[in-house]
Amino acid sequence: MKKIAVFTSGGDSPGMNACIRSVVRTGIFHGLEVYGIYHGYEGMIEGDIKRMYSHSVSNIVQRGGTILKSARSTEFRTPEGRKKAYDNLKALGIEGLVAIGGDGTFTGAKVFYEEYGIPTVGCPGTIDNDIYGTDYTIGFDTAVNTALEAIDKIRDTAAAHDRIFFVEVMGRDAGFIAVESGIGGGAEFVMVPETETKIDQVVKSLKNLRKTKSSSIIVVAEGHSLGSAEEIMKLVKEQIKDPSKEFKVTTLGHIQRGGKPTARDRVLASRCGMAAVEGLLQGKTNCMAGVMKMEVVYTPFADCIGKPKPLIADHIKLIDILSI
Ligand code: F6P
Repeated sequence: MKKIAVFTSGGDSPGMNACIRSVVRTGIFHGLEVYGIYHGYEGMIEGDIKRMYSHSVSNIVQRGGTILKSARSTEFRTPEGRKKAYDNLKALGIEGLVAIGGDGTFTGAKVFYEEYGIPTVGCPGTIDNDIYGTDYTIGFDTAVNTALEAIDKIRDTAAAHDRIFFVEVMGRDAGFIAVESGIGGGAEFVMVPETETKIDQVVKSLKNLRKTKSSSIIVVAEGHSLGSAEEIMKLVKEQIKDPSKEFKVTTLGHIQRGGKPTARDRVLASRCGMAAVEGLLQGKTNCMAGVMKMEVVYTPFADCIGKPKPLIADHIKLIDILSI
């Protein structure tokens, strides 16, 4: 293998740049020519591909976003789109790919590998932490810390006014950001898609808490089956029926996707990037390089996207115990 290419795809996450840097420099270290594909699969289809050098990735390890840009491509879902992408890679002599992204990225990479056979190794880049085969994904730690900082600030004003705040965090269908920011931020209640929560439970818990606490924070994962934080707040408010109590909603949104990556994300990203390139050189393909129990592991894309990643049971227990 002499030429490889790297790209980022799907929702960006803090630490993607550190991962790109690691892929480029590990590739160069092993004597490879490394190319960057811009705008994910869209750039593969358009031929937006440029040679990368060691200096191309200088001064990016600390930056959020992705210097290669990202996109969610609908054209790549079609056989015609993938054929164009293959032709562009073939014309440049690209013999290996590193795909940095989440389950959508790996779904595309798996189909592409099965159709065209270009060896591909993935790195888990998403704030959601919803990828099987790695304890944490690149960007998750930063997103949790961003949410936590916001929750700490909300706590100040919630306490000052004796208010009940519903804070909505990202995570798509997964509750990892909600759980970890909830534990760290001392949330009174955390609502996640993985477990069924009835409005009655929230109301009962808030009524009990009112005996000891004058303000509360409920962290709501955006994928909750009862709806958005705004909708859930309205349902709770209707049942509490206390005009003296004030309810507020804060949706944290995309601020969770930006910002300087934490040390943990930079190290994870750098490890995964190195492991992806070295995996390709060892003949690995159609799999993701992740880190489990401190060790690098390679997991088939089929498992990364197909197997569920449950929340940590102790985390759920902790929230219940610590909120009494
Ligand atoms: O997958 C990352 C993520 O930020 C999710 O948490 C969120 O649901 C989604 O992407 C938002 O996507 P977009 O930026 O395309 O609106």
